[in-house]
Amino acid sequence: MEIKAPRGTSDVLPEKAAIWDYLESKVVDIFTNFGYKKIILPVFEHTEIFQRGIGQSTDIVQKEMYTFEDKGGRSLTLRPEGTASVVRSFIENKMWNNPLPVKLYYIGPMFRYERPQSGRYREFWQMGAEALGSDDPFLDVEMIILLMDYFRSLKLNKLELKINSMGCSKCQPAYTGDLKKFIEPNLEKICKQCQKRYEKNPLRIFDCKNKECQKIYGDAPKLTDYLCQECKMHFDQVKDALTENNEDFEVDKSLVRGFDYYTKTTFEICSPVLGAQNAIGGGGRYDGLIESYGGPPNPGIGFALGIERMILAMQAEERMPGPKRINDVFVVSVDKDSRPEVFKLLMELRRSGISAEMDFAERSLRSQMKQADKKKAEYALILGPDEIKSGVCTIKDLINGTQENIKRNKVLEYLLKKKRVNERKN
Ligand code: HAM
Repeated sequence: MEIKAPRGTSDVLPEKAAIWDYLESKVVDIFTNFGYKKIILPVFEHTEIFQRGIGQSTDIVQKEMYTFEDKGGRSLTLRPEGTASVVRSFIENKMWNNPLPVKLYYIGPMFRYERPQSGRYREFWQMGAEALGSDDPFLDVEMIILLMDYFRSLKLNKLELKINSMGCSKCQPAYTGDLKKFIEPNLEKICKQCQKRYEKNPLRIFDCKNKECQKIYGDAPKLTDYLCQECKMHFDQVKDALTENNEDFEVDKSLVRGFDYYTKTTFEICSPVLGAQNAIGGGGRYDGLIESYGGPPNPGIGFALGIERMILAMQAEERMPGPKRINDVFVVSVDKDSRPEVFKLLMELRRSGISAEMDFAERSLRSQMKQADKKKAEYALILGPDEIKSGVCTIKDLINGTQENIKRNKVLEYLLKKKRVNERKN
């Protein structure tokens, strides 16, 4: 058996995991400021939740779901996205009884059986936000600005915001009819899957990756030109508020995202410094979704961003945060006999809020100093028989190289003071 993570998955090793923590801490700051509260959702749901929500004819439901039967014979699916689960939870927990809109965010792994390539994985992490219970166009704009502000907080500047409107159940039928008329003379030329899409849900032809099909669809009628009065007004209000808030955007009439639940506003943020998989976040409004599950009619809007793709964009824009010092202190023993005292000091420091490490391989003094450096400690505390006898401790500042002796009972006070000064500087 080959010892390897499954295709399309990977370990997030400690150095990278520290960046994930940083990204999450920024989410907590910014999303909280916008009034969003964290929700933790199951990693799998009843398969029907995704089939009904995302849509039977979408690529995700047709080809990409990790579906399995559990020992009780239930069909379950590893979540390919978070929106359907949030909506399920909104209904199950009768969240409409809370002041509306209910504003939630989530962070977690999603699973799609896709062909892996740079920026496209079978397990990937999303951060997402959903606001349920209001169709106010200002909420659409708040969502978009939240996403853009988050990217800006990471100093990602080379981003393109595309928006579109998917209309509603009133304007979509006339459009679908005309789209079918447009496809009809080309039916022989389009791929087998698009022929099926034409029958079941013509809008989904725009998900096709086939170059020949894409060429044909370039001239297809656009949904934005079929919007009813209400959808047109809503879209105009969204565009106006984006402009008034200095948010640059492009209306992309071909932006048809791969979910059936979208209505009205949809948006996507692309990073032009990335390759084929350049969408780092996207979302839109889903005003009929809650009702389609049997919940009381409540509109909704949300987005999700892909953490791995965002990190690729940060790398490409050279915006990765520098390595953080992991430990405040490395406690060094001069000889074997000093180790019990070193261990005691180590525990005392940790319990007082100082992150500290020691050597666990009985290394030489020199090699422990190297370890201290590798562990990115700011200080080495050196204890040997002489120090222990005279009740002192040698403190070496590993950043500027200075060294001094401090009374053993003053060590903690000294380090806590230095730590406070450093925190203030940061
Ligand atoms: P989505 O566009 O499918 O939307 O995914 C959002 C983001 O997840 C993408 O922009 C991309 O960065 C990342 N992503 C998607 N698939 C992969 C993959 N295979 N590998 C790596 N990253 C990936 C949704 O999931 C919707 N639920 C968003 C939403 C929320 N709409 C309304 N509310």
